[in-house]
Amino acid sequence: MSSDRTNWNIKSSRTAKQAHNPIRAIVDQLKLDPNATKPLISLSIGDPTIFGNFNVDPSINQAVSKQLNSYRSNGYPPADGTLQARTAIAKEYSTPEAPLAPSDVILANGCSGALEMCVNVLCNEGSNILIPRPGFSLYASLAATRFPEKSWEADLAHLESLIDEKTSAILVNNPSNPCGSVYSREHLQAILAVAERHHVPIISDEIYCDLVFDGHTFFPMATLTSTVPILAVGGLAKKWLVPGWRVGWIMIHDRNRIFSEINDGLHQLAQIILGPNSLIQAAIPDILENTPASFFEATIQQLQDNVNLSIDRVSKIDGLVPVNPQGAMYMMVGIQTEKFNDIENDVQFSAKLLAEENVVCLPGECFNYPNYVRFVITPTIDRLEEAYKRMDEFCARHRK
Ligand SMILES: Cc1ncc(COP(=O)(O)O)c(C=O)c1O
Repeated sequence: MSSDRTNWNIKSSRTAKQAHNPIRAIVDQLKLDPNATKPLISLSIGDPTIFGNFNVDPSINQAVSKQLNSYRSNGYPPADGTLQARTAIAKEYSTPEAPLAPSDVILANGCSGALEMCVNVLCNEGSNILIPRPGFSLYASLAATRFPEKSWEADLAHLESLIDEKTSAILVNNPSNPCGSVYSREHLQAILAVAERHHVPIISDEIYCDLVFDGHTFFPMATLTSTVPILAVGGLAKKWLVPGWRVGWIMIHDRNRIFSEINDGLHQLAQIILGPNSLIQAAIPDILENTPASFFEATIQQLQDNVNLSIDRVSKIDGLVPVNPQGAMYMMVGIQTEKFNDIENDVQFSAKLLAEENVVCLPGECFNYPNYVRFVITPTIDRLEEAYKRMDEFCARHRK
């Protein structure tokens, strides 16, 4: 025996100790009051299904139940996803400018799993990735500043100044969480030009693809370049309204064979943990082919109605400045702290709003962007109305 242990002494690993979710760290400070007199209204969770007003299309359910009842989709799928699912995704997202073959697609556990694989394949210890600020909290620490007054466009000079030898990728999230920004073709091209000058690939998080409002157009990043290699990630979560199904994918756009190692690396990483479950993978061809356009139109109309109401109500509250979202499911709201007696920052705003009005919203701190708060705009209209009414009363009480 080579062990001389005499008692149980089991410690968690460094990996577990270093795991950090900035949203949890901040949200855990926001205390829910079980004795609150007003019912809780949550504007904090980016899950459109929880209020019952955004539902999947029946065709999506049918696609899955067909597989369930076939008894033929219960086995382990291949590590990078079934050929049928990869073929369907390649077909759905291929464009003449950015063609995709089934072998360019890898299935993953949600878009989060896809992002994790992209980071893991591109980065070694000490590498950095340039990420947006404000940005989805899953993205790590380095940040490129963006301007709310310019529809949250990236500060390109700042972005470029941050690139160094260890920069493995620039991460772009369009349409964006938390900003709701939808970048113009010109802005995306300007980011691509920076990437090209410095030979840095792009990870393009397009999980909110096509969820854009009146007058705005979504451009897949890969359609705007023939030279910069891009890992685009997406999934079923938002556009098909099934975040709990955990279906994501990576689309490898590499027309100049710059990514041959990365391609192999991704396929190798896919072998560690299999992607989405077999039933949903088998249903993907039907889901992508048969979901009617009217379903997507209805979702966008509903989001647009909620945005219009949110902008109208919040812009009437003195001390709050909403930034008009152009897509996705969120609205950033600036807090004019100088107008309030005892609200010094976004974390205090969120904490007091919860304590006094039982309304939850996430402080900008969660997205590395203080003095803003993020509202999820997917609750029902009557809940939103009630939340904004309470916020109005709350701000009136705290204004100078
Ligand atoms: C910008 C962004 N990327 C990725 C994800 C993760 O998507 P999934 O739920 O498919 O893991 C989210 C989820 O909210 C998101 O907002």
